[in-house]
Amino acid sequence: MIIMIKKHLFVTLGITAASLFALSISNHSAPQAHAAANLTYGKITNNSLHRLGTIRQLTRAQLAADHKLTGKQVQQLVYLPLPKRLTAHNFTLSKKALTIHLVKNSYGVKNVAIPLSKLTGIILNRYMPAKYDFVKPKTPNKVVSMTFDDGPDPTLTPKLLKILKHYNVPATFFEVGSSVIRYPSISRMVLKYGNQIGNHSWNHPDLTSLSSTRALHQIALTDAAIYKATGTIPAYVRPPYGSVNSRIGNLYDRPIVRWNVDSRDWAYLNTPKTVQHVLATTHPGSIILMHDIHPTLVAAVPQIIRSLKKRGYTFVTLPTLMQKPLLANLQYFGRGDFRGF
Ligand code: NI
Repeated sequence: MIIMIKKHLFVTLGITAASLFALSISNHSAPQAHAAANLTYGKITNNSLHRLGTIRQLTRAQLAADHKLTGKQVQQLVYLPLPKRLTAHNFTLSKKALTIHLVKNSYGVKNVAIPLSKLTGIILNRYMPAKYDFVKPKTPNKVVSMTFDDGPDPTLTPKLLKILKHYNVPATFFEVGSSVIRYPSISRMVLKYGNQIGNHSWNHPDLTSLSSTRALHQIALTDAAIYKATGTIPAYVRPPYGSVNSRIGNLYDRPIVRWNVDSRDWAYLNTPKTVQHVLATTHPGSIILMHDIHPTLVAAVPQIIRSLKKRGYTFVTLPTLMQKPLLANLQYFGRGDFRGF
């Protein structure tokens, strides 16, 4: 007990001395000064629980990237004890990384170092070296983001990837885990062609109709499938049918990506009608929902891209469309339109 108190006192005094020294040499926010200062998640995130949730998910993703995990271990990541409170301070901030110090866990991992390059716009600029400063991107008004759900499909997805590459259009593919395990090489191809993969559940249920445990399992199984196929854990979730409530939306520590243009490709199953509908409903800043499991949709994509380009549109990724990183437990519909639950 005495030893503990002494140690505590020593640490406290050490921190105070370091902080005073840091203050005395400069009132500028050099990151090395912050490494010793008594920082909390609240301070470095401007008291944002969405940013803290994003840091929790980045911790899981980094742990999975740094260590070769089994499918079961990936599924259990959601239960890894991580900070929930803004007053928590189980981290060290250096010039290169935010290192999270974990409590004892089944992975046998003590520290996870998230490179600062992944934290731009998540940790406040004043705690970051200048080269990682978040600056709102000056993108044109006429931007759209394309999203493709329900794949991967063994023939249609590769065909679509070639079309997107031909027109130099990046897209996000929301994949179902039960298809990823059948066609893992297609998921790898999606990333290789410069696109992103999101989580669209295991077998496409209405998540709001499931218990929280089962809903978590739908996402965790799919994370494991995508990790096994690609070595990465998807950063976004799109609930099937866009069906989500606050209970489901707050389960995953991930941004929920919705849309504001539904191609209705699944209802038309007709290329000209799909093209016409997308062109009639797209506006600047739209997130467009399509499905890479319908041949009629894949056939519509070249016409949609050419027509939108002719109208002055640029095709961008989701963070570029939103002009900021997407944060956990917020839902995104299009530029300027994101909401909590
Ligand atoms: Ni779907």
